[in-house]
Amino acid sequence: MDAFKKTGLACGLAVAIAIASAAPVRAQDKPLASPSSAGQKPAGAAFSREMSEQAKIYQTRGDVVPVGYVIDRSLLAYTINLLPEFRQSLAELGPTQRWLDIGAGEGQAILDYYGERYDAMNREGRDKRGSKARSVAISIEDRRQPEWHETAAKLEPGKITYLFGKTLSERTPEELGKFDLVTDVFGGFSYTPRISRFMERTLSLLEVNGVFYTLLIDVHPETWHSRPARPTTAFQTQIVNPDGTEMKICAWLKQISCVEVQCEAEPKIDTPAERYRIRKTCNEVVVPALESVHFVAGTPPAREFRLVKRSRAP
Ligand SMILES: C[S@@+](CC[C@H](N)C(=O)[O-])C[C@H]1O[C@@H](n2cnc3c(N)ncnc32)[C@H](O)[C@@H]1O
Repeated sequence: MDAFKKTGLACGLAVAIAIASAAPVRAQDKPLASPSSAGQKPAGAAFSREMSEQAKIYQTRGDVVPVGYVIDRSLLAYTINLLPEFRQSLAELGPTQRWLDIGAGEGQAILDYYGERYDAMNREGRDKRGSKARSVAISIEDRRQPEWHETAAKLEPGKITYLFGKTLSERTPEELGKFDLVTDVFGGFSYTPRISRFMERTLSLLEVNGVFYTLLIDVHPETWHSRPARPTTAFQTQIVNPDGTEMKICAWLKQISCVEVQCEAEPKIDTPAERYRIRKTCNEVVVPALESVHFVAGTPPAREFRLVKRSRAP
């Protein structure tokens, strides 16, 4: 289950509790493939079936939205989930700069940014940010509530934009433009079956010196040197090398050129989350390509990827 409904908690303890409560739901309780099966591509029919199950989750409404599919996290929840530097990165954006929230759900974090309490709670950078940055929310499905439309009507035209009906990678860089800050809190980075293409597209949208903040739950953290004792051997998101050995998510991110990567894990729990800060340092970004070898629909889905040698991202 992905963690954090709207919350007023803001202390370190809250971080531990919140991430601990982010224990993953294995979709429909289907077992994950073990790393030994990593050399096989998912059968086409099985992959299509899981993708169609995943599409159903996106389209759920009202009482049938799965408990683990949280779509209304507050900005405070974003600051707790993401690395601490996110708060300052957002606070320092000026009115000509742009923030992209990938997988925005209802867009509550963006709405909170324009709310009255934001400036009171974030005094640093207040003069510089003035009327605040422009924001774009992307979601596969339209989750906007009346508050989104009310806020958009009060702000200057084009200050906030909500795009739905396509995934991030299905949108062209031209229609999205460039961004100084990108966030993804249990959005496309946690849900896509094409993670290297997703990362390529995300980084192409960042200005040089722009920063991407995201996280994953239930991964093998960079700082863990042995696999934890667990009922299953697989993590919710994992990568294998072409020879079937494990590659940690953080190690893959650090192989991307033109980025500076920071990975930080919550150390005390057995379904660890890892938070990422990825700063783009130049334009010649090359993302090591990964292919999907396992995908089981869920909130978020269980995914296994395999590194593809010397080819472009699929
Ligand atoms: C669990 S909700 C998270 C919503 C929000 N970030 C929050 O924390 O409340 C997942 C969101 O990610 C979106 N999403 C999933 N895959 C995506 C993709 N590849 N591109 C864009 N949005 C995606 C969904 O449409 C949905 O808006």
